[in-house]
Amino acid sequence: MSLEGKKILVGVTGGIAAYKIASFVRLLKKQGAEVRCMMTPASSDFITPLTLSTLSESPVGIEFYNSKTGEWTNHVEWALWADVMIFAPVTANSLAKMAHGFSDNFLLATYLSAKCPVFIAPAMDLDMYQHQTTKDNLLKLESFGYTIIPAESGFLASGLEGQGRMAEPEVLVQYLQDHFYADNRFSGKLFLITAGPTYEAIDPVRFIGNHSSGKMGFAFAEAIAALGGEVILVTGPSNLQVMHKQIHLLRVTSAREMLNAVQENWSKVDVGIFASAVADYRPAVVENQKIKKTEDQLQIVLEKNPDILSWASSNRSAVVDQKVVGFALETQNGIEYAKGKLEKKKLDAIVLNEMGEPGVGFGTDTNSVKLLFKNNKMCSFELQSKKELAFALLNELMNNLYE
Ligand code: CTP
Repeated sequence: MSLEGKKILVGVTGGIAAYKIASFVRLLKKQGAEVRCMMTPASSDFITPLTLSTLSESPVGIEFYNSKTGEWTNHVEWALWADVMIFAPVTANSLAKMAHGFSDNFLLATYLSAKCPVFIAPAMDLDMYQHQTTKDNLLKLESFGYTIIPAESGFLASGLEGQGRMAEPEVLVQYLQDHFYADNRFSGKLFLITAGPTYEAIDPVRFIGNHSSGKMGFAFAEAIAALGGEVILVTGPSNLQVMHKQIHLLRVTSAREMLNAVQENWSKVDVGIFASAVADYRPAVVENQKIKKTEDQLQIVLEKNPDILSWASSNRSAVVDQKVVGFALETQNGIEYAKGKLEKKKLDAIVLNEMGEPGVGFGTDTNSVKLLFKNNKMCSFELQSKKELAFALLNELMNNLYE
């Protein structure tokens, strides 16, 4: 889901985080958005207008009047042009001016002429962020219907550590995507997703695992949150991070821990998507001490792990109309095996991954799959990024599961 063709007006005020706006503008342009930047005069101490005009491929608005060319820039026209305005970073000073209607520069005059949704990403030192004045100003701006993108915690330019850093450019993009793609089929719905591999301990230092990266499950979670849904994401060991406030991340290690996490949350879930590559077996005995290499051969007895997906589909709530979606990873006779799993595990739908084709499977950024429903309907999805695929699959799932 991209920001293709969206007209985004970016307002930059004079804080150190202004340097991050270069990568923010690049991310927007990469998605096909039309971008214009406006700056307070103070912000050009932190990032040059030339940088932003080059990256946005558009002139930057700073002053009303250009004494060299005699041109006047019309703030009302700029405000009407925008589909959204996003102000980032916003200093305590600009925040106060925005809350109280000051209009002593081009950026503020354009803000006061806004007819579109407005997003505000404050950035300042932690004590300024905590000050009652700042808190009141933020509440006031929120009461106007504007979206505040909260500052994050971390190291600040002052050398102190705490809340005050501007949200990362990727998070700003996420807010804009959510705004454009909020979809009422998803809002108010709770999804549970399992992702990644599971690690089954052999001894304190070794485990049985697999090459699953978690990318497909995380892509589902991001897509659902972007469309307005809420997600409980239960993942086995994975390096991936989430940044969306509507994704509740639960990290587990083994299949049994994953089952526990699912069981604790299942009763309130609307849709379960089980994308994890759960280890089918685990060592029957986990040694307390590291196994020494004294023998020429070592046999490890394995026992079956619980099937988390089957547990969920056979423990559906009596009050919520729960939908259950599984995954099948097959190397041969894909459709036949996937249909078998769909029936045996009593699923509403199953996503079939056929290993062996280029760009398909574990660790890759792309995938091509088939989606099979219990009414025998089948859809094919050609090779595309896992992120795009997540949106396409969700669209098809929601159209068919609730028809
Ligand atoms: N799954 C699960 N718990 C397990 C094993 C699998 O929840 N212990 C889920 C996976 O997340 C996936 C689906 O079941 O959604 C299919 O997993 P797969 O391993 O392909 O199927 P199996 O039934 O284990 O069959 P086989 O390994 O024989 O192909």
